[in-house]
Amino acid sequence: MISIKNLHKSYKDNSIEQVVFENVSYDFSSHGVYSIVGSSGSGKTTLLNLISGLDVFDKGSIHLDQKSLGEMSVEEKSMLRKDTFGFGYQFHYLLENLTIHENCVAACSGQENQQIDEILRELGIDHIRDKYPSKVSGGEKQRASIARALSKKPKILILDEPTGNLDQENSLIVQDFLLAYARKNKSLVIYATHDIEFAKRADKSLNIIEKSISE
Ligand SMILES: Nc1ncnc2c1ncn2[C@@H]1O[C@H](COP(=O)(O)OP(=O)(O)OP(=O)(O)O)[C@@H](O)[C@H]1O
Ligand SMILES: [Mg+2]
Repeated sequence: MISIKNLHKSYKDNSIEQVVFENVSYDFSSHGVYSIVGSSGSGKTTLLNLISGLDVFDKGSIHLDQKSLGEMSVEEKSMLRKDTFGFGYQFHYLLENLTIHENCVAACSGQENQQIDEILRELGIDHIRDKYPSKVSGGEKQRASIARALSKKPKILILDEPTGNLDQENSLIVQDFLLAYARKNKSLVIYATHDIEFAKRADKSLNIIEKSISE
């Protein structure tokens, strides 16, 4: 479903070029769970941003089904993200003027759906349903951001360190939930993590090393 071919990605800062990916090719299938590990600064977040069209690459191609990301306009990529992707990022992007529940509803284009309460319950955050993001803890916000990402049942779920702010108990709740979700809905879930035990629970674990991806 996501096909990366001969990808090159570098950042240019004050005319200094930093190469992050060099001639990377990899195919993700249409469903399944993939983890991405690699040392800090190796390119995990960059890879997630490239796959979802949030960042641009220098050379090569990324195809999502038959669509070539490199040939899509900013608007087309934004539509694609809205229709196909769900995101759970460590810097959660919850809307501060909406409650946790309202944030989830907003992610489904304003459509109320029964599943939202079920997701909040399963993630152990139903008690903060009607609270505003500024009134909940960091770990609760992180789970709320995952709940919001899942509310619209995305075909592809992208998570950047989804358990990064959580204690062991809540980390396991989130892990179990995400793995069960992916299997039940036959979606594609790709997450970056520094937690090696969590990484091993994916169907495939990818390591970013020396500007490349290895399984
Ligand atoms: N917008 C940017 N401009 C310039 N350099 C960047 C930018 N974003 C990332 N980088 C650099 O690209 C490299 C990869 O960064 P990335 O954020 O993808 O790493 P990461 O694997 O997610 O790290 P971490 O585990 O710390 O989150 C790093 O060296 C980083 O400094
Ligand atoms: Mg990162």
